[in-house]
Amino acid sequence: MLTPAALIDLAAARHNLNCAKAAAPASKVIAVIKANAYGHGMLRIARALEAADAFGLARMEEAVRLRQAGVEKQLVALEGFFGRDELEAASHYQIEPVISNREQLSLLEKRRLPQQIACWLKVDTGMHRLGFAPAEAAAAHARLASCASVRPPIRLMTHLASADDLQDSATANQLQLFLPLISQLGGEISIANSAALLGWPQTHYDWVRPGIMLYGASPLLGGSGERHELKPVMTLSSRLIAVNQCRRGDRIGYGGSWCCPEEMPVGVVAIGYADGYPRHAPAGTPLLVNGSRVPLVGRVSMDMVTVDLRGQPQARVGDPVVLWGRGLPAEEIAEAAGTISYELFCGVTQRVKFSEEELG
Ligand SMILES: Cc1ncc(COP(=O)(O)O)c(C=O)c1O
Repeated sequence: MLTPAALIDLAAARHNLNCAKAAAPASKVIAVIKANAYGHGMLRIARALEAADAFGLARMEEAVRLRQAGVEKQLVALEGFFGRDELEAASHYQIEPVISNREQLSLLEKRRLPQQIACWLKVDTGMHRLGFAPAEAAAAHARLASCASVRPPIRLMTHLASADDLQDSATANQLQLFLPLISQLGGEISIANSAALLGWPQTHYDWVRPGIMLYGASPLLGGSGERHELKPVMTLSSRLIAVNQCRRGDRIGYGGSWCCPEEMPVGVVAIGYADGYPRHAPAGTPLLVNGSRVPLVGRVSMDMVTVDLRGQPQARVGDPVVLWGRGLPAEEIAEAAGTISYELFCGVTQRVKFSEEELG
């Protein structure tokens, strides 16, 4: 079949987890597998990352699905719970919510749960998304600690806004706000996402929370996974479904945005934005045809992209094409398309055929 496929290399995922552990040897790891493991498949990645200490999910519903599938590991719901049903699910399935607002706190105070739950307290040190302001944190901590339904000890968490930029002073400012709370409230601490894990060792503390690096992409601005010895987990591929001999002056695709400078072969690849290939990838974005780089030409359509085959004149219908993954870092495609590897991975759609392998 000449259709797109995403090959998920589970050995590479395990290798990347080992890289995270080696970079933060004194910390426990919450492997972040929210959003269907960044598009890689939550259950298969959970099974592959058995060596993680816990899994991080965004929503309670994701964590419940993981439990129902038989995963027994410690689960952390990074956005906590919303409403009574989710709180009860947290208790029933023993999922640890991150508590970040007054509504969650008062619901916990009101509700007598059949089983106590372990909780994290989120402090907003500068991300201005979720969490209690540093000035409110001690009071929230005391209220949480006195909830009958909460199993002590309470752990503290904050999230960094700009750890991907090693020159940005925002990280030091966030730490400065968080450090007094660490000394005042004690308990286990979690700060570091992948970027902080690799670039800011002073943020490691008790628990690190890597996400993107587990999938093999660099979390740092302008970085590459390879530089950190990470291996790509997802390889997105397809095949040539046509090779056209075009003439000088022929315009390729919608809007005719790319014009052939000479007589040349133009390949048509069975992948488009309906599969998750970014529509904004410009002419020149690299693809691998038969393992060699060729540039994208013309606009990305729903089901197809077109490529300049002058460097691959022998290419034929059915030949393999890699869009990103092994041999072609997703970071490079993301940068060309004005996005980030996270979005590329999460955007691969249901139409793409997923399978697993154990290459490493
Ligand atoms: C609270 C929290 N921790 C950790 C992560 C993992 O981040 P990254 O994928 O950049 O390592 C995320 C992801 O967005 C997050 O929201």
